[in-house]
Amino acid sequence: MIITGKCWKIICSDAMDYLIKNIGLLATPEGDMAKSGEAQNKIRTIKNAIVATKNGKITYAGSMKGASDSPEIISAMDQESVIEIDAGGRLVTPGLVDAHTHLVFGGFRQHEFDAKIAGASYLDILKAGGGILSTVEATRAVSYDDLYAKSAEFLNKMLAYGTTTVEIKSGYGLDLETELKQLQIIHDLSKNYSVVPTFLGAHAIPKEYKDNTEGYVDHLINEMLPTVASRKLARYCDIFCEDSVFDIKQSRRVLEEAKKLGMGIKIHADEIVPIGGAGLAAELNAISADHLLQADDLGLNAMAKSGTIAVLLPATGFYLDKGYAKARKMIEKGIPVAVASDFNPGSSPSYNMQFVLNLACLKLKLTPSEALTAATLNAAAAIGCAESKGSLEVGKDGDIAIWDCPDLNFLFYRYGNNQAYKVIGHENRMDGC
Ligand code: NIG
Ligand code: FE
Repeated sequence: MIITGKCWKIICSDAMDYLIKNIGLLATPEGDMAKSGEAQNKIRTIKNAIVATKNGKITYAGSMKGASDSPEIISAMDQESVIEIDAGGRLVTPGLVDAHTHLVFGGFRQHEFDAKIAGASYLDILKAGGGILSTVEATRAVSYDDLYAKSAEFLNKMLAYGTTTVEIKSGYGLDLETELKQLQIIHDLSKNYSVVPTFLGAHAIPKEYKDNTEGYVDHLINEMLPTVASRKLARYCDIFCEDSVFDIKQSRRVLEEAKKLGMGIKIHADEIVPIGGAGLAAELNAISADHLLQADDLGLNAMAKSGTIAVLLPATGFYLDKGYAKARKMIEKGIPVAVASDFNPGSSPSYNMQFVLNLACLKLKLTPSEALTAATLNAAAAIGCAESKGSLEVGKDGDIAIWDCPDLNFLFYRYGNNQAYKVIGHENRMDGC
């Protein structure tokens, strides 16, 4: 079957094999580990390339020249069932990996928009019972079916923007029942989408524990974490380690318990006030520390030593008008840098990873090659998927984005437009991840 013309997305199942011909430029990082320092800037580029996939895995990714002698290409050409796509000289990259989202939520928060424009800060809104807590009310009230449908629709749209793998956090229940509802939805989504689940019960202090953060931490440790772990509903445990939310001591307690239960750990660290989240992430060997706008040298040096990945969220800095993390300093120190959308209704209401990449170059000052690595291989490593995702190499999953662009600069400098031409994502893929 030959696919022609414009269509936003193609969802690939294991039964479909693809041959993408006439690629003007193939650009991909290489390997199955996060890249740091100068290596983050080294990507493989091939002009006039071709990519073949079989049973959802890449069997060939290389130059057109010589491809006709390759047994993988010959066998793909021979098969009637193979889906041929003419890339028409366009740019092809790995599908984007969004390593930090909160996309299972009830309602939106446009009612806070006027106060925000008038100058109310994110933490002021939260302290007044709004912010995350208002989304908690909305998420508790919505049915499983409605919340599943809303979340699936987000994932469909993200695919149409080039994002093929998504980490999703719970954290809008803050009670066992609703946290389990969110995690069950993420689990059920994983049957159709490539998603990674993270438990974020420690996202805020629920109204039931107002002025009793220690009581809520005990509840997290004694009730919530063991239930989530025994049902195997989360690969990672995350915490909002922040002034007036969870302090360093409370964060250490929760995360140490999560580790004991076999979960990997992540931290919302040093976003608004520098309280030492980056250092804690390094001390506990977290796979990632996220946000990091205010992280100090001590914390960053510790992260460089521990190999903790910095997941930077420039769309949040943009929306909160709080500036941007010091990405160049992190790269110089040898910290692997990833970028993600932080999609949520309060601090980053966009799931557009192309916009995140525009900001990664314009505001974080990453080169286009560093930015590509940040949104593919390093992002995959930040959610434990780098062995199967994040680069176009033989044996990896066939998650592929074809862009209406001749090169990477074009993709990253044109902001505000969806430049995805065709996107091949995966159904039923997370078992292999
Ligand atoms: O990463 N900072 C905490 N959590 C989210 C915001 C969640 C919300 O405001 O609903 C974040 O920015
Ligand atoms: Fe977040």
